[in-house]
Amino acid sequence: MRLSVIGTGYVGLVTAACFADLGHEVIGVDQDAERVRFLGEGGVPIYEPGLEDVLGRALASGRLHFTTDVGEAVNASEVIFITVGTPAREDGEADLTAVATVAEEIAENLPGYRLIVEKSTVPIRTGERIRDQIRLVTRGKVPFEVACNPEFLREGSAVHDFLHPDRIVIGVESGRAEELLREVYRSFDSPIVVTDLATAELIKHASNAFLALKISYINAIANLCERLGADVSKVADGMGYDRRIGRAFLNAGVGYGGSCFPKDVAAFIKISRDAGYEFRLLEEVARINEEQREVLLRHLKEALWVLSNRTIAVLGLAYKPNTDDVRGSPAIAIIRRLCREGAQVRAYDPAAEANARRVLPEITYCPGPYETAVGSDAVVVLTEWDEFRRLDLKRLRGVMRRPVLIDGRNIFDPGAARSEGFYYSGMGR
Ligand code: UDX
Repeated sequence: MRLSVIGTGYVGLVTAACFADLGHEVIGVDQDAERVRFLGEGGVPIYEPGLEDVLGRALASGRLHFTTDVGEAVNASEVIFITVGTPAREDGEADLTAVATVAEEIAENLPGYRLIVEKSTVPIRTGERIRDQIRLVTRGKVPFEVACNPEFLREGSAVHDFLHPDRIVIGVESGRAEELLREVYRSFDSPIVVTDLATAELIKHASNAFLALKISYINAIANLCERLGADVSKVADGMGYDRRIGRAFLNAGVGYGGSCFPKDVAAFIKISRDAGYEFRLLEEVARINEEQREVLLRHLKEALWVLSNRTIAVLGLAYKPNTDDVRGSPAIAIIRRLCREGAQVRAYDPAAEANARRVLPEITYCPGPYETAVGSDAVVVLTEWDEFRRLDLKRLRGVMRRPVLIDGRNIFDPGAARSEGFYYSGMGR
């Protein structure tokens, strides 16, 4: 099929590359001419395992092209995916400027029936807004339909998640639109849930908020474990074997971050309020998440008493492993607090240093974990990279000034760390 994907951010780029690799003819559109040139020459602007291969194959096959021209894409495609960014504003509401602009550009270039599919995470009823906007611009003279097909991929496993989704959600207003989207996904063997537009939009919000809720729930249990002398990792194992609960997203730590969960939870609270429902449960989810940063700082202070003039070695800057993304990263927020309290911060991350430097130029960046720990009063783990799990604790201790290990992601065995002579403190154990 002939498809276009407007917006070449995380979701858009993976969508365009994977669809082309699966045999569709795809045009990727971005307003950023420099990015379009870079992509056209085989460049990969984001760190994502496996994406380079898929993009390379798709470009070589001749089925994937990039352009800045929305008109060209709309003309050539049966189905048009909108995957532009929807950043959060101060009040938590999603900023839909980019979506609105693209809808207008599509409308101005509509040559005949097209299916316009929102894939970005958007507030409920955005599909209707897109439809009304396009109808206004075309004065109702050109046929088209709007659909919603939310994307659930995770950074770090985006290509795999895109190609093997647990489910495909299709929000449509007609059988014709449903058939077109079924055709787009014909080579997938995932269950397909067909709904109306608003329900599809709600599924995305309800899913992300539920995952955030699971994390805050286990973090609340972790706080209770600390007071009662229990181990939250074991509690999570014990709960996780219950198939109705599941072990995934029950890892306690310094909280969730990234470009989705914090923004989506805030947006869902706002959407609910606007609809006349105070979603207090989610307000608490967000509050517990913020509080986890304070819990880590409290652990550090319990070990070091004061933070001013202490040297703190931070391992991990990305909001989770296998990504270079520091957006909404608890590590960045915690380092800012450490700096404010007068600590000297040295930091290392296997992939996120360049992005961290942009938002945190004031700290010292080191080339590896042991270099970071040299002369430090404490090592603080904030991202659970595998590289950190494999650290030689004896060697680490040997270069530190004080043997304090604050494990914000529970990656070490407390007994093993203590028998190496560390003062060890995890989250909820
Ligand atoms: C998330 C959703 O999983 C995905 O479906 C959606 O499309 C986009 O948002 P992503 O942000 O890439 O994906 O990361 P994810 O792996 O879900 O982790 C989110 C955050 O939760 C990370 O900061 C991670 O460290 C944290 N987390 C996750 C925990 O703290 N504990 C857990 O048990 C799991």
